[in-house]
Amino acid sequence: MKTTVIVGTQWGDEGKGCLCDYLAAQADIVVRYQGGNNAGHTVVVGDQQFKFHLIPSGILHPGKLCIMADGTVIDPLVLCREVDDLRARGVDTGGLRISAAAHVIMPYHIAQDILEEKRRGDRKIGTTSRGIGPAYADKSKRCGIRIGDLLRPDVLRARVRDVLDEKNVLFTQYYHAEALDADAIADQVLCAVPSFRDHIADTRAMVIDAVRRGRPILFEGAQATYLDLDYGTYPNVTSSHPVAGAACLGTGIGPRDIHDVIGVAKAYTTRVGSGPFPTELTDALGDRLRERGGEYGTTTGRPRRCGWLDGVMIACAATMNSLSALAVTKLDVLDDLDTVRICVGYRIDGEVMTTVPMDPSVLERVETIYEDLPGWRQDITGARSAADLPANARRYIDRISEIAGVPVRFVSVGPERSQLVVLGA
Ligand code: IMP
Repeated sequence: MKTTVIVGTQWGDEGKGCLCDYLAAQADIVVRYQGGNNAGHTVVVGDQQFKFHLIPSGILHPGKLCIMADGTVIDPLVLCREVDDLRARGVDTGGLRISAAAHVIMPYHIAQDILEEKRRGDRKIGTTSRGIGPAYADKSKRCGIRIGDLLRPDVLRARVRDVLDEKNVLFTQYYHAEALDADAIADQVLCAVPSFRDHIADTRAMVIDAVRRGRPILFEGAQATYLDLDYGTYPNVTSSHPVAGAACLGTGIGPRDIHDVIGVAKAYTTRVGSGPFPTELTDALGDRLRERGGEYGTTTGRPRRCGWLDGVMIACAATMNSLSALAVTKLDVLDDLDTVRICVGYRIDGEVMTTVPMDPSVLERVETIYEDLPGWRQDITGARSAADLPANARRYIDRISEIAGVPVRFVSVGPERSQLVVLGA
């Protein structure tokens, strides 16, 4: 294994966790490059289930260095809880490294996220209420607090006072909410630091060193291509850049040192929160996919919107992320269908489009063009190799590969580690 990026090709929740877990075994270092605890990976090992929001799931593999890199945003209270929980379950967290340059999600970011969503009313984005947008906004505005600042309590207090001078005007006069107390907030955040203080490091230097030595690195993307701040369905997007290119911006690696990019696509499509979704099924079939697929958010528990696989989205994601291969997850969820559908084009104003339009209001209006394939009507959860998959399931996978223009290298047929079927090298 060389350097590999794992990236979501839809609207998140593609089941990237199982692939990250599999590939982490072959990497020396696992790196998260963007996002924060808006993400949620579930990894099932035997009868144990682990839910990760911040820490790379590679931590389950002893001896790996697991980095939360510069481009991430970190809620110290959540990090402290996650580290303590893992330790309590006997997981060695010695390999965890937190970038001193990563930005901190402060309690006032969470308050601002919630107040702003309330203010938007019907136009709300449906954020995870984790403070992601306000934290990245402050980073861009250059008034953010970085993880390294948590090691200098006096500096931190002064910065928090300074930030709250402005934000309290916003909270009280614009949102008509309570003002926040700077010292109480600094105290709250500082209480969490002892859990991870010793893990704070210059992770950029670590990544640069690993690249120079040719060590295998796995970059673990959170969220997905169509939630990207630029490439997603703006404004119904997250505030970071989940696309593969951001692995460079958020860590210390350059573009020519990324050797392999694996896109993860669920065998159907889901979305949480608002925004266009051309292949959405708002009928009983959509409900059936939600129930069979357990489509409820790992982070917020919200029911996910469900629909057919959108091949137009996957094909564009393949180009925008330079995918070398695809992993198709949760194929077993389609086991009981007579027919499976793939969207192969959009029709708008009499024209056929095979790229995702940049304007979400156009995506909102498109008519989907479907290709129907026969279902396999067979339980595939026991499949462990390509030969175990029924012919119609293989046909569906082959068609996805043709549409995306890249080979399908992995298929998952259940949540357990052993249910990831490797189709090719
Ligand atoms: P935020 O990232 O909390 O600001 O949320 C912005 C949008 O991204 C909302 O529609 C969320 O539902 C969505 N979102 C953020 N993180 C995830 C994720 O990990 N999976 C799926 N959707 C997500």
